[in-house]
Amino acid sequence: MGEWYESQTYFRIFHLFWASQFVDWVWAGRYSRIQFSYLFPFNRTGFSVLRSVKGLKDILPHQASQWQHIETVARTLATQYGFSEIRIPIFEFTELYSRSIGGTTDIVEKEMYTFPDRDGSSLTLRPEGTAGVVRAVLEHKLLDSPTTRKLFYLGPMFRHERPQAGRYRQFHQFGVEALGTDDPLIDVEVIVLLWQFFLTLGLKDLTLHINSIGTPGDRETYIQKLKEFLAPLLNTLCGNCQRRYSTNPLRVLDCKVPVCQKNTEEAPHLIAYLSENSKIHFQAVLDGLSSLKIPFTINHRLVRGLDYYSRTTFEITSPHLGAQSTIGAGGRYDGLFQALQGPSTPAIGFAVGLERVTLLLSEDITCKQPPLFFVAGFGSTGKPRAFKLLYELRQAGIRADTDHKGNTLKSLLRSADKLCAEYSIILGDDEVNSGNVILRNMQTKAQQIFKLEEITQRIQTGF
Ligand code: HAM
Repeated sequence: MGEWYESQTYFRIFHLFWASQFVDWVWAGRYSRIQFSYLFPFNRTGFSVLRSVKGLKDILPHQASQWQHIETVARTLATQYGFSEIRIPIFEFTELYSRSIGGTTDIVEKEMYTFPDRDGSSLTLRPEGTAGVVRAVLEHKLLDSPTTRKLFYLGPMFRHERPQAGRYRQFHQFGVEALGTDDPLIDVEVIVLLWQFFLTLGLKDLTLHINSIGTPGDRETYIQKLKEFLAPLLNTLCGNCQRRYSTNPLRVLDCKVPVCQKNTEEAPHLIAYLSENSKIHFQAVLDGLSSLKIPFTINHRLVRGLDYYSRTTFEITSPHLGAQSTIGAGGRYDGLFQALQGPSTPAIGFAVGLERVTLLLSEDITCKQPPLFFVAGFGSTGKPRAFKLLYELRQAGIRADTDHKGNTLKSLLRSADKLCAEYSIILGDDEVNSGNVILRNMQTKAQQIFKLEEITQRIQTGF
């Protein structure tokens, strides 16, 4: 009897394991959805490798400054436009979403992460922010304000969609909501804010699509006409559209299946069925955009995938994103407050998909940071004194760091380079004895000597 590791079974497992590792290595990165290590979830040490849940993305340290930049632009612009931040919970009662987004929408029908609470009530991870904002505004009576209530939010949303580039199951939105007026100029203000957000980030080749889907009353006649138009074409449309024909016929218009798009090219335009008031409102929005020279395209197919919309709807798309080309979208939702048992409150807002924005930006955006002072302490008295100096520098508001992995001057200076420190403060046993430190410019390598007790103050005053 040979040893176990000489057996055929071991031989097979051994080869299968390395073959899976090789195939994984070849495929990884190219086809991120086909990861063979899901089939053979072991790494070289034989332990199982845990991965994040499908459709969720880590934002790694080298990507974080890009996110900080985007969030800073969002916060700065929203504040400039008079919006205040609101932070709403990440989950709510499921009923909130089914009543506001609409029971026959894709989001409510198949994309929500819904789970029972311990007391049996049904909870849902927020798939979007508008419903939660409206709930919070009603609950905390934020409408009791003499001026338009203007709110913005930033944070993660959750939808169980098929993951692909630009479409995730956890994604982040920057959204704004302006509550309490239906003046067409607030529509213009909100759209201009969205447009300016993208321009400030330097995004190019954007298209602003705009439409009016009228009030529910306007849509009644239109939906009849649309159904009459679609009825003879039904067999030529995709399964989804055939279903939507009876549940939510408007959504047939924004189906992305090419044959459905082609066959519905001649569909009647909703704009033609708007009431006089809705027409005047829409024209005033278009005039407002024109007066500010914001370019737009009227898109008759733009009906949006959430049921709460009425009148103005809009989207901004980029040609550089493939199938998931909409980076920001929104519209008016004049009936939502009443649908949630609130007072009649006209409202409008938008949300931007921040992952999609990151796909359009280069990764090397670095936030402007103050210079980094690396404290290089070594030796039996130098190291503890340097640690104290590090604390003193940070207390004084100076950006300072060290690396506890390094114990020699050489390795510490190497770490300072790796951390892109502008300066190193060298502090060994000799420096403690003499009461001096060396300040080294990491780029020019020039060195200056300062009194140890004065170095913090000298840095604060620019040396
Ligand atoms: P929405 O069109 O569902 O609208 O989403 C807004 C944006 O979020 C989309 O244009 C897209 O950029 C991004 N987004 C949506 N789903 C995903 C996903 N699975 N992965 C990555 N990004 C995604 C709303 O959410 C409305 N609440 C907007 C609004 C605010 N309307 C009025 N006020």
